[in-house]
Amino acid sequence: FEQRKDSIEQPTTSETDMYKEPFVIGVAGGAASGKTAVCDMIIQQLHDQRVVLVNQDSFYNSLSEEELTRVQDYNFDHPDAFDNEQLLRVMDKLKHGEAVDIPKYDFKTYKSDVLRRVNPSDVIILEGILVFHDPRVRELMNMKIFVDTDADVRLARRIRRDTNEKGRDIGAVLDQYSKFVKPAFDDFILPTKKYADIIIPRGGDNHVAIDLIVQHIRTKLGQHDLCKIYPNLYVIQSTFQI
Ligand code: CTP
Repeated sequence: FEQRKDSIEQPTTSETDMYKEPFVIGVAGGAASGKTAVCDMIIQQLHDQRVVLVNQDSFYNSLSEEELTRVQDYNFDHPDAFDNEQLLRVMDKLKHGEAVDIPKYDFKTYKSDVLRRVNPSDVIILEGILVFHDPRVRELMNMKIFVDTDADVRLARRIRRDTNEKGRDIGAVLDQYSKFVKPAFDDFILPTKKYADIIIPRGGDNHVAIDLIVQHIRTKLGQHDLCKIYPNLYVIQSTFQI
């Protein structure tokens, strides 16, 4: 068994640069399905990695003065409610290792004025109801997760959250649900479930699923890191002679 050391190719700077792409995870699912809980648990378990969370909510279009006067008629669950081109630009930059400025959306003013600086990381998680809608965004993802939670559970959570955290009236929450949220789930969100690599029932309550996902990400990151250090790993292996 002999290893020809002289033939082991060392990486050059340009070669290592080619392998700096982060691992991108998409997390989609209905509103209040528990996407945030799933992302938080993944981030917590990947504590030794640099992970950044990008929320699709950050890319909601700000409402004009006229739209603000009849906000109850605005469909926040339609793909057109988001600035998808900006989302794509941001994700593309992060994927290529560049820092970006991401808007912060305010659910009370319906506007996004402030920006937050996000640095490139080893893992990028993009979370939101419609993150699998645009094929160009999907193509940037290395892993796609769909959080599948029953509609009654989602509605119950939404009522609690929107009345407590967003200060909304329960009647308005129910009207919005039947007029926009439920139809948009059926027409736009549910059809993207087919793109998922993994479907998690019960969202953040499903610890077994999260553990398996984190294990898989770790394996992939390990392979990723080896490729970063030795882009010609296959050449090294082929120089082992028996
Ligand atoms: N939405 C709203 N008012 C706005 C903007 C968005 O009520 N000004 C609602 C949309 O109707 C949409 C929901 O916000 O249904 C999308 O956010 P959601 O996915 O519920 O947020 P997360 O906290 O990420 O969900 P999860 O509970 O799955 O983590």
